[in-house]
Amino acid sequence: MEIFVVPDAAATGTVAAGLIAAVIRSKPDAVLGVATGGSPLPVYAALSSHGLEMSRVRAYALDEYVGLPTGHPESYGEVVRREVTERLGLDPVNVRVPAGSAADPHQAAADYDAAIRDAGGIDLQLLGIGHNGHIAFNEPGSALDSRTRVETLAARTREANARYFDSPADVPTRCITQGLGTIMEARHLLLVASGRDKAEILAAALNGPVTADCPASVLQRHPHVTVVADQAAAARLEPGNNPVQVRVVDASVGV
Ligand code: PGA
Repeated sequence: MEIFVVPDAAATGTVAAGLIAAVIRSKPDAVLGVATGGSPLPVYAALSSHGLEMSRVRAYALDEYVGLPTGHPESYGEVVRREVTERLGLDPVNVRVPAGSAADPHQAAADYDAAIRDAGGIDLQLLGIGHNGHIAFNEPGSALDSRTRVETLAARTREANARYFDSPADVPTRCITQGLGTIMEARHLLLVASGRDKAEILAAALNGPVTADCPASVLQRHPHVTVVADQAAAARLEPGNNPVQVRVVDASVGV
């Protein structure tokens, strides 16, 4: 596992975007796994400034709420359309998000898992980490080999995501999420984390035991993981883990 510690959230975006850009340059039809939430936003901002040819890049989102109508501004379908497809210039036909408004979300989840496999698997999966250690919406207790499925959101997750809705009660209670087993099949996992509020959980995930109590800890079992954390989020990482200190000198170049 490679860990880059950078000064701030903007620099996590610069460094992570540099890694993603290298993948796209070497494989113009790369399959990206894209994430929502706050952590990936600096990554998309930095990636958009690379001026890459993105029309053949394919993208699969990690998760989606169940129960929001199609087109709801906080559905991940819409967030991905705004923050990823439009911002980066992807062709909308190449971008998929789980069908959270499907009549049968369980079938939609299984179909999504199969679609990722049929696409040849994900080359690079971008990830954030929740305060409870979730990745995608795999909440504590998720099986480490779980597949894409319908899940119930943890209270902590609904609280964290209430900032995007008019009222906490408006946050959906269920979701479709890629499973931990699904995520682990991606060829490269790129976790971004920023802020002091992520320090404890990031240390638990990277330095603690591999356990379903902290779903992100499963990353320790993946052969190709890159973590890009700002100094605040990296504050509790154990020195024995040898985080690589990176000084981003030119924000347009990255590392
Ligand atoms: P955040 O969410 O980036 O908005 O903190 C991360 C997550 O819940 O996966």
